[in-house]
Amino acid sequence: MDESKIKKFWEARGQKIQDLPFESLANLEEDPNNLELKIKDEQSKVFSWLDPYDKSILDLGAGIGQWAFRFHDRGAKKVDAVECSKSFVDIGRAGAVSRNASSIEFFHSDAQSYNINEKYDIIFVSGLFVYLTDDNAKQLLRNLSNSLTSTGKVVVRDGTAVVNAYELNNVYSEHLDAHYSATYRTPERYKELFSNFGFQCLRNENMFAEGHPLNKYPETRLHLFEFVETGSVGN
Ligand SMILES: C[S@@+](CC[C@H](N)C(=O)[O-])C[C@H]1O[C@@H](n2cnc3c(N)ncnc32)[C@H](O)[C@@H]1O
Repeated sequence: MDESKIKKFWEARGQKIQDLPFESLANLEEDPNNLELKIKDEQSKVFSWLDPYDKSILDLGAGIGQWAFRFHDRGAKKVDAVECSKSFVDIGRAGAVSRNASSIEFFHSDAQSYNINEKYDIIFVSGLFVYLTDDNAKQLLRNLSNSLTSTGKVVVRDGTAVVNAYELNNVYSEHLDAHYSATYRTPERYKELFSNFGFQCLRNENMFAEGHPLNKYPETRLHLFEFVETGSVGN
């Protein structure tokens, strides 16, 4: 995957603010019924796994801050939102001002080189790893070490491959009217990558049950993982 093309794709997405519903800018769902279902069913799953109340949260690859705003609305103590697309950061900052959400701060940076200088209760990484090469994913995981409080956890929400990993490399998508790249790793590969950097997977599940209309492609499933840091590095 070509990082610069991925960045260009996301930067251009932010220019569509006048044409698309707020949520669909970052989550790429443009059908209004599916968008509503996605927002509802994802929140019900994610918030059955994590309670943002009074937590400090690092949101990596935060997009326009849609999850950051949800954490804020559920009483998070603070949310630091890191995003590489300037257009998304600008939209997120304006959204924080209009919501009077002063405990959310946006940082314009690559997630893998963002300097984490405090410990968080929750590190949320949603829809980011699919856009990272293995080298960048490793750099990010190295960066995450020693960044959790003693009871802290990393929650990853990402597209995964059902059987074999595969890559979309600058493929034209009619639906998005743009060239698109993403890499789908298997859940086992996520566990292996995290284990190599001292994180243990406590649970992982598909976001949507089989038969759900948002399981659109047989090859991929949106997946949720919960990791804790043990410091013990896997093989
Ligand atoms: C699918 S969106 C997910 C946004 C948000 N986390 C959510 O779940 O709605 C992926 C986001 O990751 C950002 N991104 C891609 N590569 C990145 C990187 N290396 N560092 C930080 N952000 C990145 C994109 O700009 C985009 O906003």
